[in-house]
Amino acid sequence: MNKKTIEDIDVKGKKVLVRCDFNVPLKDGKITDNTRITAAMPTIQYLISHGAKVILCSHLGRPKGEVKEEYSLKPVAEELTRLLGIDVKFATDITGESAKSVTNSLENGQVALLENVRFDPREEKNDDTLSLELASLTDGIYVNDAFGTAHRAHSSTEGVAHHVKEAVEGYLMQKEVKFLNGALENPEKPFIAVLGGAKVSDKIGVIENLLDKVDEILIGGGMSYTFLKAKGYEIGDSLCEEDKIEEAKTIMEKANKAGVKIVLPIDTVIAPVQEETDESLDKKAKQKAFFAFLEKSEDKVVDSDKIEKGWQGCDIGPRTAEQFANELQKAKTILWNGPLGICEVEKFSVGTEKTAEAIAKTDSVSIVGGGDSVAAIKKLGLESNFSHISTGGGASLELLEGKVLPGIACLTDK
Ligand code: 3PG
Repeated sequence: MNKKTIEDIDVKGKKVLVRCDFNVPLKDGKITDNTRITAAMPTIQYLISHGAKVILCSHLGRPKGEVKEEYSLKPVAEELTRLLGIDVKFATDITGESAKSVTNSLENGQVALLENVRFDPREEKNDDTLSLELASLTDGIYVNDAFGTAHRAHSSTEGVAHHVKEAVEGYLMQKEVKFLNGALENPEKPFIAVLGGAKVSDKIGVIENLLDKVDEILIGGGMSYTFLKAKGYEIGDSLCEEDKIEEAKTIMEKANKAGVKIVLPIDTVIAPVQEETDESLDKKAKQKAFFAFLEKSEDKVVDSDKIEKGWQGCDIGPRTAEQFANELQKAKTILWNGPLGICEVEKFSVGTEKTAEAIAKTDSVSIVGGGDSVAAIKKLGLESNFSHISTGGGASLELLEGKVLPGIACLTDK
């Protein structure tokens, strides 16, 4: 069922609440990637040009219901001011005195941004009192354009929709759903999925849902080693989810029955395992030390069934990258999610970059999601060669699993 859009309602002179996903990366208080902000521009600009009083809201990070200065949306208000070329007013709370006074003072075509909704402990609980307070800031109109957060049933993404007259999707939401659902419902064939990332467990639901839709699945990244082990290969000390080996076997059997070709790496770039880890470090620091170790470590290319003990797989090898490129050439629809190597380490991002280049050369409908794959595309300046770059991580995976996203289900059907 199609959802109503903002074009179906009269917004002139009305206070409209727009939930965006402004969960952007920050370094020393500065936004390092504004993609999610620019992606929300079409909806905001439409509302401005149609004389709405625009109230934007979003989360940033996971402050867990507490006010934490480092998660303030203030830098986002400044970036919005720069991008829109008009002064975006900033409310220092969510539904308190500041929010009320800022939103009540809006003239037609003006924009305000509320402070981080996750500073309020009621947000993630989808507490109805907060949903009501958010709705009462508006003239009964709510627009959800936060595709990246549509898999969360929170007050600002789901609850509020039940307390307004009109709850509609924004242009970004519309575009994301069009491309991702389009690939699932009506893909031009051959349809090839490229899946990577560290964990098989994150992708099992996606693979299951894709089995009756795709012609091929190319698997790389950390998750490939569980599949290689399921085939009985020697994977040394590569990442492996032992409890998922049986599931990996079942998936390969199902794929075989369904006539879906699963392509696993034939060669792998390996590095020695880190001998000592400083157990006093927290998770983030341990990861940093791991990447620093890999930067300096030796590496070599071996066949994927011959990874020795004491060594771990870090990237797909050159023959695999070439094989993936050959397979991808014939695709008419490509869906890519997840890196094919440890991209945090420059020398192990080669397979991911080669795959990005191979997809960019095709004339297929190409859809990509997930931070590292998107980062590789941006690094190579290949954005315009892709049909759609999703702003959603978890949300796009859940949609690809065939799940109903609460932030979309709550919106009004046409
Ligand atoms: C994301 O970055 O994937 C979204 O903004 C959702 O964030 P969350 O995982 O903290 O809910």
